[in-house]
Amino acid sequence: MNSTAVSLDADFFTIQDWAAYSDENHEVWGILYDRRMRQLEDNGSRLFLDGASTINLRRDRVPDLADVNARLGPRTGWNAVPVKGFIPAHDFFRCLANRRFPTTVIVRSKEQLDYLPEPDIFHDVFGHVPLHADPVFADFLQRFGAVAARARTEEQTTWMARLFWFTVEFGLIREDDQVKVYGSGLISSHGDAANALGPACDRRPFDLENVIGQAFEIDHFQDLLFVVESFDQLFEAVSAMETRLT
Ligand SMILES: [Fe+2]
Repeated sequence: MNSTAVSLDADFFTIQDWAAYSDENHEVWGILYDRRMRQLEDNGSRLFLDGASTINLRRDRVPDLADVNARLGPRTGWNAVPVKGFIPAHDFFRCLANRRFPTTVIVRSKEQLDYLPEPDIFHDVFGHVPLHADPVFADFLQRFGAVAARARTEEQTTWMARLFWFTVEFGLIREDDQVKVYGSGLISSHGDAANALGPACDRRPFDLENVIGQAFEIDHFQDLLFVVESFDQLFEAVSAMETRLT
């Protein structure tokens, strides 16, 4: 096994028993899908919208990861791999380095439509996976995993966590002179996206040194985010981090 491989029988992996989803599960997915897509058609990155269409996300049912992967794999080599919940950071990075995206498969309940402390399939598949169909983002994320898995010091780990937070989770992108959302935390949450694009958030041009020097807090709306001009900047940033960590 090479240093970035993750054993297929690691106990955090699970299976997605698609037939076991209830009518409520499909209904919740549909409600969340409708709510977010209505907004994202205006303020979501076209790269997200293109990706959602490529992997055939639909409003009427919880996605079957086998279908998603059948569309994604031939395009960029990425796969969404079902996991039981949070997995150790190092294993998470090693999965990314292998173009495997750990994906929770539970659906939140109707009572928790607006807030769920842990990820669910809506955050992970609706929020994250569409961008894996974009070839530049796909390469960036794979490289991110390989570099992050190599972090040894606390400082290096912090740098990579900040780079992930301000891009994959809460990234903004300028398209046709408008700032759009692409980070999964913004794609999957109306409140976070509205805050990110509203007056309470300071939106600054993406700059690697500023990003890795910027602390973040996870328990409230973000008051500072970074805007890329294209995903090429992400790939350049992770390449620079690779040089720095070797
Ligand atoms: Fe996420």
